[in-house]
Amino acid sequence: MINVIISGGPGCGKGTQSDLISERFQLAHLSTGHLLRIEIANFSEIGREAQGYIAAGNLVPDEMILRLLAKTVDELPVSHGVIFDGYPRNVAQAEALDKLMEERGKQIDIFLDLQVPDEVMVERMMKRAQTSNRSDDTPETCRHRVQVYHEQTAPVKDYYVKKGICQTVDATGTIESIFREIEKIFSKMM
Ligand code: AP5
Ligand code: MG
Repeated sequence: MINVIISGGPGCGKGTQSDLISERFQLAHLSTGHLLRIEIANFSEIGREAQGYIAAGNLVPDEMILRLLAKTVDELPVSHGVIFDGYPRNVAQAEALDKLMEERGKQIDIFLDLQVPDEVMVERMMKRAQTSNRSDDTPETCRHRVQVYHEQTAPVKDYYVKKGICQTVDATGTIESIFREIEKIFSKMM
């Protein structure tokens, strides 16, 4: 059983690659963004609190996310590995995840860092905006999300570099070629 984090800027392809990885390696795909969008659709208390932050392209408060994450992890079968998509978004969240995993006798094995230039991220999000109804896929919010990524999320990489589990992936190619690179990384690990 392995536990993986997939990180990278908004629109870099985390969700797309996570779907392929979870199917190929039998991991549960846990996207905090997706979980929040479900909460919003259900008009839950978390959803009502989170929607303003998301529409503005800002991070939702750590405490709210951690509650949602812990609940979801505990609903998974114990033997199941997880791919965390879009979590952690800052160093405090990385520390909280370590604690959460340790308490359950688990650990993070791979931190995948998908690298894409800012303009490609925005391009991909703008293309998706034609068919998605995500409140945060507007040109202004997308640019702000990229900024928030650089300021708050990109520094998380160092946390995992120090642990020796960071794997950088050039995510500018096709969906298939990026997945082949990721498969190679996983094969070496397993
Ligand atoms: P979240 O849902 O995590 O959004 P994000 O990080 O901004 O990333 P996206 O989901 O937009 O993109 P992605 O990397 O998954 O790319 P995708 O595969 O879709 O978070 C949303 C918000 O929720 C945050 O801003 C925040 O407010 C809140 N939030 C979430 N987690 C949080 C946390 N931990 N703490 C605090 N707040 C949190 O691909 C994008 C598009 O490109 C798709 O159309 C896809 O088909 C296409 N595409 C993918 N790969 C390729 C390729 N190789 N070539 C061409 N097109 C491609
Ligand atoms: Mg996503």
